[in-house]
Amino acid sequence: MKEALSQMLRDRGRSEMPKVLLAAAECAPFSKTGGLADVVGTLPKALAKIGVDARVITPYHRCIKDRYASRVEHLFDFRIMLGWRNAYVGIERLCEDGVTVYLVDNEDYFGDRIYRGGLPEGEQYAFFTRAVLEALPRLDFRPEIIHCNDWHTAMLPMLAHIQYRGRMQDEMKYLLTIHNIAFQGRFGFDFVQDMFGVDPCYYTPEFIELNGCADFLKAGCVFADRINTVSPTYASEIRIPYYAEGLEGILNARHAVLTGIINGIDRDFFNPETDPALPARYTLADRKSGKAVCKHALQEAMGLAQRADVPLFAMVTRMTEQKGFDLVACVLDDMMCREDMQFMLLGNGDERFENFMTAAEKRYPGKLCAYIGYKEELSHLVYAASDFFLMPSRFEPCGLSQMIAMRYGSVPIVRETGGLRDTVIPYNRFTGEGDGFSFANFDAWEMRDAMRLAMACYKDEEIMEGLISRAMQKQFGFELSAEEYARHYLWML
Ligand code: ADP
Ligand code: GLC
Repeated sequence: MKEALSQMLRDRGRSEMPKVLLAAAECAPFSKTGGLADVVGTLPKALAKIGVDARVITPYHRCIKDRYASRVEHLFDFRIMLGWRNAYVGIERLCEDGVTVYLVDNEDYFGDRIYRGGLPEGEQYAFFTRAVLEALPRLDFRPEIIHCNDWHTAMLPMLAHIQYRGRMQDEMKYLLTIHNIAFQGRFGFDFVQDMFGVDPCYYTPEFIELNGCADFLKAGCVFADRINTVSPTYASEIRIPYYAEGLEGILNARHAVLTGIINGIDRDFFNPETDPALPARYTLADRKSGKAVCKHALQEAMGLAQRADVPLFAMVTRMTEQKGFDLVACVLDDMMCREDMQFMLLGNGDERFENFMTAAEKRYPGKLCAYIGYKEELSHLVYAASDFFLMPSRFEPCGLSQMIAMRYGSVPIVRETGGLRDTVIPYNRFTGEGDGFSFANFDAWEMRDAMRLAMACYKDEEIMEGLISRAMQKQFGFELSAEEYARHYLWML
């Protein structure tokens, strides 16, 4: 363990690192719709290496039951009241890579989609929240810290403090990590009262009320002992109205306990040297032939022209406004008509963006491929095969895809926001420094210029070599983040 952490332990008169329970809606590899799952799946492994016993509690989603049922152990079950509803709670256990994951079972709530949307989703995670609080005293593990993630688990500290006073739930410390402030869990107060029986005295702007709604994430910001988000830049961005989605007031009020901790990636899972999803594996030192085989394989599989000499731009993404699809839609035709390039999109999401990309694929056969959907293995091939990875996000709390792309030697083109700003150093044509390309404003033509510069660099082997090797050398491991989280946990005790 790092000397600084050992010193912190000694200062607090402790011999052991804290025990932590991470509560989250998704956890990779069991359930995943985006980066939240990756983080919840990877952080406990990195924490274990520095002596923190970190376990996870997450819903036993249908997709987990389908694939892991034979390895899941039933621990116990009980019933809870959710308003007038009397609901079954099963607590199951699954151990993977030395990490214990507790699964909250109830097929009525978690028998289909991870997120049902609207009020049904509110009910899914209200159920999960109450189930976690009621499961805590029954578990074979006594955490000192509950690490909540996003709005789905953000009501935990408030309920613990107002409804479990003097009990173990109230004695624990709560860290709230904001992975994405755009999702806050906003409902009518009558719904929250129905679900949780919260006293109306809490329905005020000091507590849970925001713009006429009860806001789960706001409640978390008010009641958590500490708050963090997933990059230093995003931690400052969410203090201004453009990014904060209404939470700037509470976040400014609590700025003393608000920090940014950059995520890492699972370097074993995302490793071009060992990745079973690739037709050829490669290393930093010997990457050319391996990457060429991957590019050829992707072009062949996706119906792109079999050309080694053309720059291949890729996006692997949820297709939402967050990810900058408005910019892509604005300049895609101009790019495809004028430039000798290829474009590969893997992702799904908003129908209007899906339709736009599907139609574009028809206009540019052999040049553009839009694979609507998501396949983990295919995503690895796209990272490995592409020359450039485009992420023009409107906002990006951290972003893992650009880090994964860099690990696979795909040079990122990003907007300078949130974690993208903290992880990509823009290419400087005068000093030759940098490991990617970036643009400042949310403007399609600025993005287009950054892509134009990337294409110009593509023609210069020496510049490209420098960019790729600097990108691949970036570490992005979870070790530093894990230490930072451990420090945060210790501060709270
Ligand atoms: P976000 O969590 O905002 O989607 P991140 O960059 O933090 O973005 O995380 C992306 C992670 O999710 C990566 O592991 C990526 O491969 C994966 N991913 C990207 N697009 C999708 C998608 N459409 N469905 C599921 N997972 C996706
Ligand atoms: C969210 C954010 C993304 C971040 C991920 C993990 O999904 O959109 O930027 O990397 O959470 O923290």
